[in-house]
Amino acid sequence: MITFTDVTKTYPDGTTALKNIDLEVKEGELLTLIGPSGCGKTTTMKMINRLIHPTKGTITIHNKDITEYNIHELRWNIGYVLQEIALFPHMTIEENISIVPEMKKWKKKDLSKRIDELMNMVGLDSKKHRKRKPSELSGGQQQRVGVIRALAADPDIILMDEPFSALDPISREQLQKDIRNLQQEIQKTIVFVTHDMDEAMALGDRVCLMKEGEIVQLDTPQNLILNPADEFVQDFIGSRKTPWQTAVDVIIDQTAQDIYSIEELDQVPDKGTYVLKDTDGSYTYALNNGEKTELPAIENGTVLREAVQLFEKGNYEVLPVIRKNQLIGTLSYKDIVLYLKEQSKEEMEVGQ
Ligand SMILES: Nc1ncnc2c1ncn2[C@@H]1O[C@H](COP(=O)(O)OP(=O)(O)OP(=O)(O)O)[C@@H](O)[C@H]1O
Ligand SMILES: [Mg+2]
Repeated sequence: MITFTDVTKTYPDGTTALKNIDLEVKEGELLTLIGPSGCGKTTTMKMINRLIHPTKGTITIHNKDITEYNIHELRWNIGYVLQEIALFPHMTIEENISIVPEMKKWKKKDLSKRIDELMNMVGLDSKKHRKRKPSELSGGQQQRVGVIRALAADPDIILMDEPFSALDPISREQLQKDIRNLQQEIQKTIVFVTHDMDEAMALGDRVCLMKEGEIVQLDTPQNLILNPADEFVQDFIGSRKTPWQTAVDVIIDQTAQDIYSIEELDQVPDKGTYVLKDTDGSYTYALNNGEKTELPAIENGTVLREAVQLFEKGNYEVLPVIRKNQLIGTLSYKDIVLYLKEQSKEEMEVGQ
């Protein structure tokens, strides 16, 4: 959907921020961009909505060169959360959120309802906060307004440059969930910059790891872990905080030995737990020793710490894992224990 072809950016002072980048962001995907400071993440983002122009190469959206779009239409259709919180200080919160919807000539009533909805989504009391000025909000609250302002006019593409960096861990986890849900429900195409490998892994359908203006590896979270392209990738993955914060899709079993399609119902073995996949690819129910059982499904971005709680609550052995309503695999309690054991062994070896 968004395609970079051989894009290079050299700033007037001679700094080459991007070198011959080829990149495709697929429709409806959440792509996370990660890499050391100065590797070119913000430059990449700003090129998508023409805040920065390539020195060489082309960028297309829906196969049309971005320079051929009317600049206003292009920007209205791209929600952008800037790295620095950039609310207009003299405007109230609701005025800040309303900028693009008003340009798009939304009805006052629809807009007001939308503001309520969005503010509630990120845990801001709309009644209390909408008439305030940004300076009357905490840094984290302002950042949340920055996020919902980008979503307000319902753009097709959302660019987020470290939107959660000023948030405490709890708000951060909450907002990560909101973003995931949002993306799963309405299938936005999202490019998300972060410094945090856990965040990149938990949120990204794919993760693009950059270094010195180049893409080192663009892959699914699983593949980054299982097949790191080089030592740099390995080190970067190693910088994750704790294995408890790994997302479940990194370790799920995709061999599908526990999964049967609904048409194969008569082939499900009598002993053990098996998960049934509907004809549309979604999870329907499970069979435990031949008996129909409802098992809760785990979202692919769930971190192990939360997954373990879920297992322990219901005393489950195996649970289905879903991504965007599609059954993508199963996870067993044993898999988690083995993974954590393996990780702590590695940590001890590194520590020696
Ligand atoms: N206007 C500019 N003029 C000259 N050099 C610039 C300009 N903007 C960015 N750069 C340089 O380009 C490189 C990439 O910058 P960019 O802002 O894209 O990095 P980043 O990956 O977003 O970093 P961070 O994680 O710190 O936000 C850096 O070396 C930076 O110093
Ligand atoms: Mg940046």
